[in-house]
Amino acid sequence: MSATLWAEMDDYIVERLLPADPVLEEALAASTAAGLPAISVSAAQGQMLHLFARMIGAKRILEIGTLGGYSAIFLARALPADGKLVTLEFEPRHAEVAAANLARAGLSDKVDLRVGRAIDTLPKLEAEGQGPFDLVFIDADKPSNPDYLHWALRLSRPGTVIICDNVVRSGKVLDAESTDANVIGVRRLFDLAGADPRLSTTAVQTVGAKGYDGFALLRVE
Ligand code: SAH
Ligand code: DHB
Ligand code: MG
Repeated sequence: MSATLWAEMDDYIVERLLPADPVLEEALAASTAAGLPAISVSAAQGQMLHLFARMIGAKRILEIGTLGGYSAIFLARALPADGKLVTLEFEPRHAEVAAANLARAGLSDKVDLRVGRAIDTLPKLEAEGQGPFDLVFIDADKPSNPDYLHWALRLSRPGTVIICDNVVRSGKVLDAESTDANVIGVRRLFDLAGADPRLSTTAVQTVGAKGYDGFALLRVE
């Protein structure tokens, strides 16, 4: 088994199952051209987020970590006409690229893009009465995962689905002695989620265009 094979299989999945999508391709190209890191979800993963949102009939979605808006396009496209995606991004440059990509996708009206540290924006969302969200996608700085889970719960209702990206990290998350802040953040998320009676949780390992990683899937009870 090799990363090349995983990537080739991902290409096959996308080619056979996902409609050709110039808007998404342009969003990735614009992100690359602007020098953004190539860490968006893969197309197959983005489609999974889109399908999850539609499966639960999500009308209000929160995303933590926008980057160039690639996953945001998948999520916002799942919304009904009166739906809203609130997406949080710390880097103004990333937010600028995302805003342009979302505009090209015709989604500006459905997306509320907030620039700043998510940990500062989340209490503001609560104060504004923005919750509860139907779906929360956590995909920003991994050391803050425990804080983001806390806020996802505050902004949720029974039935809210929370998805957290990058919880396997090529298996590095197994290392209880790790000093990597990303690994520590993920392990704390697992400890909190596993011990919280308000949550039903699993994590699924993935391979594909982005190598070996995985996502956690949580349901608020
Ligand atoms: N969800 C995106 C990828 C997000 S990458 C996609 O799949 O297309 C992670 C993003 O989180 C980066 O753009 C990074 O700038 C942002 N980020 C990092 N720390 C943050 C913070 N404290 N608050 C908000 N965003 C943050
Ligand atoms: C990184 C962040 C991500 O959200 C991701 O999906 C992959 C990598 C990173 O910070 O390296
Ligand atoms: Mg990610």
